[in-house]
Amino acid sequence: ATRVVVLISGSGSNLQALIDGQIAGELPIDIACVISNRPGVRGLERAAEAGIEALTLDHKGFDSREAFDKALAETIDAHRPDLVVLAGFMRILTPAFTSRYLGRMLNIHPSLLPKYQGLHTHQRALDAGDSEHGVTVHFVTDELDGGPAAIQAVVPVLAGDDAASLAARVQQQEHLIYPMAVRWFAEGKLSMRENKALLDGEPLPASGYQ
Ligand code: GAR
Repeated sequence: ATRVVVLISGSGSNLQALIDGQIAGELPIDIACVISNRPGVRGLERAAEAGIEALTLDHKGFDSREAFDKALAETIDAHRPDLVVLAGFMRILTPAFTSRYLGRMLNIHPSLLPKYQGLHTHQRALDAGDSEHGVTVHFVTDELDGGPAAIQAVVPVLAGDDAASLAARVQQQEHLIYPMAVRWFAEGKLSMRENKALLDGEPLPASGYQ
């Protein structure tokens, strides 16, 4: 099975989707460890409940981004993962860190990238009057929320939506497409080369699989 380390900062509902897929035998992965940069979050409990090693590495204990990322990489590498999965991990990563895991680190971002990189994506989609919104799974490169997309899911923006209702609709899709992308990677179908995502060796469109 593909060894996976999952990085989180919060509730861990995407982590839960991966745990459920692993337990159901639908995902050929072995989540070796879950690491949170925030202590006491729900995602750490989810890992522990599944019998997965759950560690906290609090960024507040480090003087610099570089020092935190170095410690984080050491903790990750101790578990020898094939794949690093960012699941609601809310830290900007240094180029030294992203290049270390290039082609074997995925992130999920709650927008139709390249739209709405950064924070508050649901409110920004509402403020712009968008009729569609969504979520992207992409490879992580040194460009923040900029690496090549593996898969996107689109949801409608409905009359009366607020950021919370829209986020909930997007999250339902997150829990479907993140396990799908991780399964593709674990099966050797999804890869990255020359800053392009490939599925079965064929370059995916800029939006990823839709
Ligand atoms: C998810 O909605 C994910 O798309 C978002 O954080 C949430 C984490 O939820 N990620 C980002 O905003 C990355 N910049 P979860 O902890 O329940 O999986």
